[in-house]
Order: sequence, then C-alpha cells, then structure tokens
Amino acid sequence: MCGIIGILGKKNNVVPNVLEGLRLLEYRGYDSAGIAVLDDQGRISRLRSSGKLTALEGRLRETPLSGRAAIGHTRWATHGAATEANAHPHMTERAAMVHNGIIENYQELKAGLEAQGHVFESQTDSEVAVRLVSQGLSEGKSPEEATREALLRLEGAFALVFLFAGEPDLLIGARRGSPLAIGYGPTGACLGSDALAVGPLSDRISYLDDDDWVVVRGGEAVIRNRAGDRVGRPVKRLDPSLRFNLGKSGYQHYMQKEIFEQPQVTGDTLKTLLEPSGGRLTLPEDLPFRVSDAERLNVVACGTSFYAAMVGKYWIEALARLPVDVDVASEFRYRDPVLAPKGVSVFISQSGETADTLAALRYCRERGQKTLGIVNVKDSSIDRESDGSLLTMAGPEFGVASTKSFTAQLTLLAALAINIASERGLLATGEEARLIRLLLEVPAMMAEILSRSEEIALVSRDILAGSRDALFLGRGPGYPLALEGALKLKEITYIHAEGYAAGEIKHGPIALVDKDVPVVVLAPTDALFPKIASNLEEVRAREGRIVFVGDQKGLEKVGKGLAAGLVIPPVDPFVVPLIYAIPVQLLAYHTAVFKGTDADQPRNLAKSVTVE
Ligand code: M6R
Repeated sequence: MCGIIGILGKKNNVVPNVLEGLRLLEYRGYDSAGIAVLDDQGRISRLRSSGKLTALEGRLRETPLSGRAAIGHTRWATHGAATEANAHPHMTERAAMVHNGIIENYQELKAGLEAQGHVFESQTDSEVAVRLVSQGLSEGKSPEEATREALLRLEGAFALVFLFAGEPDLLIGARRGSPLAIGYGPTGACLGSDALAVGPLSDRISYLDDDDWVVVRGGEAVIRNRAGDRVGRPVKRLDPSLRFNLGKSGYQHYMQKEIFEQPQVTGDTLKTLLEPSGGRLTLPEDLPFRVSDAERLNVVACGTSFYAAMVGKYWIEALARLPVDVDVASEFRYRDPVLAPKGVSVFISQSGETADTLAALRYCRERGQKTLGIVNVKDSSIDRESDGSLLTMAGPEFGVASTKSFTAQLTLLAALAINIASERGLLATGEEARLIRLLLEVPAMMAEILSRSEEIALVSRDILAGSRDALFLGRGPGYPLALEGALKLKEITYIHAEGYAAGEIKHGPIALVDKDVPVVVLAPTDALFPKIASNLEEVRAREGRIVFVGDQKGLEKVGKGLAAGLVIPPVDPFVVPLIYAIPVQLLAYHTAVFKGTDADQPRNLAKSVTVE
C-alpha cells in the first residue's frame, strides 16, 4: 500500500536517494508514483506518473529535478483512479505532501476549503491535508502551527509528510493509524513508511505513535504528541540484515527467491523456540502470560495469514485440546465476538501493519484480552502493541504473494501447538521429541521438492496456464492449504480459482467441473486419504482435469486417468501443511511465468494493507 519517503540533504541533491527509497517501497504494491523537490530558489517542483517507477524515472530523465529537500510516494489508489492527477505528492505554491491512509472526513473539509477559494486538482481524499496546511500558512501561521491545526481536523488514518516552500531544512511528518518511521544516520534524520525505506541513510530507527507528529530540522527530529508536548520514542539500532540480500540473487523474481528460501527460513524460525538441547520448544521468557493457561484462543488475521491461522486451529485443537476460534480480521470486531474472560488473542501478520488486524488487536486489548502477535517485521505496530510476540524469521518479503512468511507462520504455530500440549501434559513420553524431530526434518524435505521445481513447471504450463478457472481441494489441514493454493493462483495469474474442503464439492462446486477445469487435489496419505480419494472419483466422473498432489502410494491407489500427478515424498501427517505448501506455491508461480503476469507485483494488490 502507499509508500512514503522524505529526505533532507545537507549539501547534496537527494533526488537519487528518494528514488532509491521508492524502489525499496515498491514491494508494498502501487499504481502511480511521484516526487516533489525544493529547488535552490526554495520553490517546489513536482513530477508524477501513473504506472511503475520506471515511468517516473523516464519523466525525470526528460525533466531532471534536483534539490536538498524532497518527498516521494508510491500510491495504491483508494479515492480516485490511478492517474497522474491523483498521484502524490499533492501540492500548492506553499507546501507539498504525501499521504498513506484514508481521510474519512475529506468531503466536509473539501467543501469548506472550496468555499475559501481552493480549487482541487485531484479526486483524492488526500489533497485536503495539503490545502488545510496551505490555508494556515496563507493566514500567517508557521509551518508547525499550520500543520498541527490541520492534523487536529483530520479524521481517519494517515501517515503524512509535508515539504514547505522556502524551507530547505524542514520536513514535518505525522501518524495516526498508518505507520511512519524516523531514520537517523550520518546525514541527519529522514522519514519513511518502514525500515526498508529509511535503511540506506540510517543506522537507527524510531516509530511515531498514533497522533504523534515530528518536525525534522537541523539534522534533528523533534516529536510531539496530540497535545503538542514533546515526547520521546524508543530509538533502536536498525537491523543490518535489512541492507543485505535485498536483490533477487539471480532468481527471475522475488517470489521465486522467497519460495526457495523456505528451507532456511523454516529452520531459522524453529530455532528461535528450540531449547539448546533440541528436545523442547519453549516460548520467549518475557511473554507476560502462559498461553497454555488459556481456556480458549482467538486467532485473527487476513489473507494468507488467516489460512495459516486455520491450519494452526487444526494443530492446536488436535494436540493441545484447546478450543481455537479463527476470524478474518475485517469481520471480527464488527460481529461483537464473545471473548473468553482473560482469554488469549493471537494476531498473525507478516507485515505487522495490516489495518484490520491491528484494529482487532486494539479491540481485544480494550476488552482485557491477553494479546500475542505472530509477525515477521520486528517493531511493526502489531509487534509493539501486543503483550508479547513471536517473530517469524522470514526476512524481508518483497513478493506481494506471501510464501516464506506463510511457512514461517506455520512453523511457529506448529511449535506453539507442541508447546501448549506439552505444558498441559497431553503428550505421551517421547511424543514431543518425535514431533520436534519431524519439524527439524522439514527443511530438507522442502529442499527436495524445490529441486523438482521444473517438473512442477510443466504442470503449470500444460494444465493451469491455459485455463480460465481452477479448483483446489483438501481435507483436514489440507483444506486451508487448498484455500491458500487458490489464493496464490488467483492473485498472481488472474485465473479464477477457488479452494474447497473436498467434502463440500457435492454441495455446489461440483457443478463447475467439466473437462476444461483443472482440479488440484491435495491428497497426502493420512487418515483422510480414503475420503479424499472418493472426492477425486467424483471429479473424475465429471471429466475434471485432476492434478494429484500426493505420495507414490496414494498415486498408485487412485490409479490412472489423471491430468498430472505431482509426487511428494511420504510425510507424517503433522508436517503435511509445511511440505505441501511448496508445490502449491510453485504451481502458482510457474503459471504466472508462463502467462507473463507480474508474479512480484500483481495488479491491484498491495503488500501491506494499511487501510480498512
Ligand atoms: O501482512 P499480513 O500478513 O497481515 O497480510 C495479510 C494479507 O494481506 C496477505 O496475506 C495477502 O493475502 C497476500 N497477498 C497473500 O499472498
């Protein structure tokens, strides 16, 4: 979703730095980009373009800009189409501004500003913010006063950065709901949406809290709260690993690289909870409550993280006999959920910034729930606002489609299930060690499947790439995996795909099956194999093009007449979700490559969904 960067240079031209920051924000997903620069005369110049950054860079080659103060933006359209006129920065003669979020009372503010003579140039909700500030400036207020007063009038969610005409050493940023970070480095302070954006110029970072605003001047950043009082926010060292390994390392796409990183990520994530002896999984000591004491768990998430939560429910209920409710975050707080008194609520999010998941976390905290985040981005809002967090060790994930963060979430959920079951005394002697051994074997098994990526590519080419619709079927924890497989395929290839619990197809979806519809059947040889084999027969009887994903024994049982069989090494049912995630991701990835769609930045999608 929208990405923001704001940089002040001491003597140098900061346009290349802003472009580098925007490049690092590309992963969030966007459909237009722009930059505003203060020239040597103190005037603001701006260039914007719809489409990708390369288009903006082309405009900059035709009309070079340079200056010591600049702001940049990648926009993911909400109010108004992805046109140049709606792209940020928005500006007047007095100020320019970039915004991430939604200003909910923009229509009312706009009407008031129009009555004062302002002529709006865009259809966005954002433009009101720069016009409110400009109005204050035209009334003789200082940039600080004008901004503070404008902020008090805005409703909704925002991260904002303002640049002021005639003020080469000033940026003002503000946050409510949408994240904004301050990077500190040898050249002073800069502002950006996340650690990646400020990383190239910074070695330390801090984050604004809601309703904070920050004045960056003279190499310093002064933070104030809503009341205008100066406040301090923790400053942490920036993780140096953020600066490494940000390229594609020879892979064609980030998504491909991230799929191939999964053996390492799974091992690294598991290690964070594994006692040195290797025989026990323990939760961090600073977690202020015992999850195993809960009588019920709520797990809340969106998208792929929600499917991870669904798998977690199977594991935790089966092993630890602890009831688990899973909810899509956008529905959760609006359905007036019944929360167990002093219960534990878990929030799963790769980015740690998903607006609905964050709102659900705040909803639960206000109602006295103990909260646990499962996040990939340390110091993200969900990490900071939860009572405790478990960190997935996936590293930066740039592909919009979640891959390695999904299996890292699964790894933590599997470990959590074992930990709770063990603390509740529900594991027979040797069982905890056996389950841990199974998890430790996962990276090697993932690597084996990855080595057969080209074989999977043939199925993508011959069966999926040419189809309009596809179905994914699974049972047990294979059901959320079927949902995830369908989500992966639809988001990066635009093929209409649905995932179903295999037993449900008779209740409707089987009407879709004919000789043109690929049906991917996830069929590990577990207790439910005979059931899913029957569902496969139902599809076969309607001439569906079956792509069987299972082991050799299962393949032999279902016999001939399949469109394709992807043979996976036999695995214990406990680790099926972790292992079967790989072929499901590779099927989608290779299909996107054959179709020529953008696997890393699919249309209309954002990596970090920071608006409701
Ligand atoms: O950052 P989060 O895990 O909270 O993001 C949740 C979803 O937006 C995300 O999983 C989305 O569904 C991905 N595009 C799936 O690949």
